[in-house]
Amino acid sequence: MGVFSGHDGVDTSHEQVVFCQDKPSGLRAIIGIYSTALGPALGGTRFHPYASEAEAVHDVLELSRAMAYKNALAGLDLGGGKAVIWGDPDQLKSEALLRAYGRFIESLGGRYITACDVGTYVADMDIVARETRWVTGRSEQHGGAGDSSVLTAWGVYQGMRAAAVHAWGDPSLAGRRVGIAGLGKVGKHLLGHLRDEGAVVSGTDVSERARQWVRAQHPEVALVEDVQALITSELDIYAPCALGGALNDETVPVLRASIVAGGANNQLAHPGIDKALADRGVLYVPDYLVNSGGVVQVADEIDGFNFERAKLRATKIYDTTRQLLAEAESEGVPPAAAADRMAERRMAEVGRLRTIMAPRP
Ligand code: NAI
Repeated sequence: MGVFSGHDGVDTSHEQVVFCQDKPSGLRAIIGIYSTALGPALGGTRFHPYASEAEAVHDVLELSRAMAYKNALAGLDLGGGKAVIWGDPDQLKSEALLRAYGRFIESLGGRYITACDVGTYVADMDIVARETRWVTGRSEQHGGAGDSSVLTAWGVYQGMRAAAVHAWGDPSLAGRRVGIAGLGKVGKHLLGHLRDEGAVVSGTDVSERARQWVRAQHPEVALVEDVQALITSELDIYAPCALGGALNDETVPVLRASIVAGGANNQLAHPGIDKALADRGVLYVPDYLVNSGGVVQVADEIDGFNFERAKLRATKIYDTTRQLLAEAESEGVPPAAAADRMAERRMAEVGRLRTIMAPRP
């Protein structure tokens, strides 16, 4: 079992997988480059204590593939990649480890550009940047894009409005009942946009700190016990903004919302669950389409960060969602399948253009 011969049923069409080790600092990293058809492979670094090397490889293969699709659909001139650092960030993370990691990224000559992900933060990217140019998600003081959840939430909001037009003929969310599961960085910003428009918002979070924030800032928002209570309440839109796998064999049959649009990655627990949603008449807006505002925000850093330019691009998620939902309907396929096709089409059509020789200026 391996990258060439297949790995646990994962698509292993990756261009390159690099193992990086620096024993003194404890660095064990794997960089996965799925595709550079559209440009350098951009995707974050996940720092996580995987149970085994196989689990780390599995994760990096899946995550890097997903980034290729996300970046393609977001209209970016970027391919897809992702990296994992194997270990407990609380115990292992150090200046030496992050800088060693930065040197390995630099050695790839720009084929891979990193960013934050679970377990890595803006301050970490500032350290990585001392060894490599190929890093985004740095702090604003260092010319970076800062916290990407700002435009992630903005993009989710745009995707919701597009879904509302598709379902109800009107993009307005005023008076619509929206339930947010996970009131963290993305969930909180999303809540703000929804309240500004007059939506009736409810939510849940396992963190008492997050709940306290909602009580203090938005006392009008109904906090419910857990995700089960949220999805079985009267909702027009359900926004999963916590962890992956939110749409599964237990939740889909009891879900009462008619639209699902949220920031969480990997919402579909397994292949076929999108069909189950469609069969119940639930309009699912693909996660990697609506949550691409974050990568749009950090990608903008490559040319020198400009928030308004990045926001304009993230606003386009509205148009892409409308186009995608129309295409899915006319072809009679679930939106998730239509999204994959649309991303693959762009990778093939635009990626192919590099075969036309154009001398560098
Ligand atoms: P976060 O860690 O700030 O927020 C997640 C929240 O979900 C936390 O408050 C946590 O307590 C809560 N939570 C966890 N398990 C829960 C459960 N079972 N029930 C209810 N609440 C639960 O993370 P962030 O940045 O807001 O990300 C949220 C999701 O969006 C993640 O899936 C992430 O991968 C995805 N995402 C985030 C992007 C970003 O720019 N921050 C970009 C694209 C995707």
